[in-house]
Amino acid sequence: MSTAIRPTAYNYKVVRQFAIMTVVWGILGMGLGVFIASQLVWPELNFGLPWTTFGRLRPLHTNLVIFAFGGCALFATSYYVVQRTCQTRLISDSLAAFTFWGWQAVIVGAIVTLPLGYTTTKEYAELEWPLAILLAIVWVTYGLVFFGTITKRKTKHIYVGNWFYGAFIVVTAMLHIVNHASLPVSFFKSYSAYAGATDAMIQWWYGHNAVGFFLTTGFLGMMYYFVPKQAERPIYSYRLSIVHFWALITLYIWAGPHHLHYTALPDWAQSLGMAMSIILLAPSWGGMINGMMTLSGAWHKLRTDPILRFLVVSLAFYGMSTFEGPMMAIKTVNSLSHYTDWTIGHVHAGALGWVAMISIGALYHLIPKVFGRQQMHSIGLINTHFWLATIGTVLYIASMWVNGITQGLMWRAINDDGTLTYSFVEALQASHPGFIVRALGGAFFATGMLIMAYNVFRTVRASNPAEAEAAAQIAVVGAH
Ligand code: HEM
Ligand code: HEM
Repeated sequence: MSTAIRPTAYNYKVVRQFAIMTVVWGILGMGLGVFIASQLVWPELNFGLPWTTFGRLRPLHTNLVIFAFGGCALFATSYYVVQRTCQTRLISDSLAAFTFWGWQAVIVGAIVTLPLGYTTTKEYAELEWPLAILLAIVWVTYGLVFFGTITKRKTKHIYVGNWFYGAFIVVTAMLHIVNHASLPVSFFKSYSAYAGATDAMIQWWYGHNAVGFFLTTGFLGMMYYFVPKQAERPIYSYRLSIVHFWALITLYIWAGPHHLHYTALPDWAQSLGMAMSIILLAPSWGGMINGMMTLSGAWHKLRTDPILRFLVVSLAFYGMSTFEGPMMAIKTVNSLSHYTDWTIGHVHAGALGWVAMISIGALYHLIPKVFGRQQMHSIGLINTHFWLATIGTVLYIASMWVNGITQGLMWRAINDDGTLTYSFVEALQASHPGFIVRALGGAFFATGMLIMAYNVFRTVRASNPAEAEAAAQIAVVGAH
């Protein structure tokens, strides 16, 4: 046995593929978001065709932004982070390639089936059983590649970012498989294995944990790698990151019933969901503070580094939406906010401000590295993108707060004789200006994505395959 430096190479090909597709799906998903936001301003845009109605395009928007854009960002960054922090190549190139093509096939399947009206009708779980099965197979393969790579790591301990990615992969598989249990009656129609209030409970156990593990835990994995890297500072507290991890995954799983307040769900379950949601504020803010404090001594970098700005502002929105969420989980607050645009504003504070911003920051860090370039083609354009994204998000959520509270108050206003003060249409008319501002905010955000696409295109064009492969070379100290 002797120790030697063995050259090996990371598998950057699959990271490059997923990174590019994140931008492509981001543009399509957010473009569609702007389109459906415009349909709420100008209903004529439904075109009177079944395939282009709001009702069919809305789930396509959520599938594209969550699973196509967010999913590709998580695949790209987790494959990058797991290799670099474990100092080893992915365990299997062919299985990794299968996850890439399989995932794209699921997305294309969604683009075809959802506008045609094939849907399970369960929110965020709309894909009918053949696509759901393909998704499960791809996901289990993803788990094999990720955990397989961890088992052959050259480092002693497992970096905390990988704990978050790992939990996101395991819990997503569990949620997807349990919630999709159904009886197929034809190739494109199935019925849920559960009934009534049980079905609702399982659906929101899934739905809430899709938020908790897909839209939060995976992106926290991203945060724990890319924030310290970009700030060139170690993570503020490794101990806090471990407490953060265990507290977050222990609490999230109980909070689902806050989506079903004042329904047929047993009262105790609603109260339990409310209590767990309030406690959830603590680990969420612990994680946010850990990320923010990593910048200690590096705050001045924010003046010149727009990538760091994306990452830090994403943490600020994460803090904001995880403060707002527990408040909305309180039953009395929820009686005002539920069914209104307030929920939509909360969703997009998390989705645009947190999920999209952290992904964009991570991609601007990662893309030059996997294409063998020093930096992105234009730092100025990253800055422009940053401002478009920030202003777009603020316009979106501020207009939805105003709309949400207006709607909630108008719906509950009653006259002395007990009749409703306002008709539903009057509340809708009052919402119209907010809908316009939201569409405008969305257009800002989507324009930023187009600028990103141009910047990525120029960066990729300036790279050559030899340079990109050279970037993937690592020297591994090993025994042979
Ligand atoms: C340009 C950016 C975007 C625009 C203009 C936009 C617009 C919209 C609109 C108009 C709706 C329907 C609201 C309603 O039914 O009243 C919606 C729903 C939704 N969007 Fe977006 N969106 C954008 C980006 C995103 C992103 C990046 C994500 C996730 C990462 C996301 C996740 C969602 C979710 C989860 C819902 C469903 C919310 C619910 O049912 O409560 N959106 N979006
Ligand atoms: C401590 C953290 C959080 C808590 C306790 C929380 C709580 C809530 C509550 C009470 C609702 C409204 C349920 C209703 O009235 O129907 C809600 C909706 C939602 N939240 Fe959060 N939230 C948190 C963080 C986040 C984050 C970070 C994101 C996004 C990345 C997010 C995404 C969503 C989505 C997509 C919905 C809408 C679900 C639907 O009805 O379709 N939440 N959340």
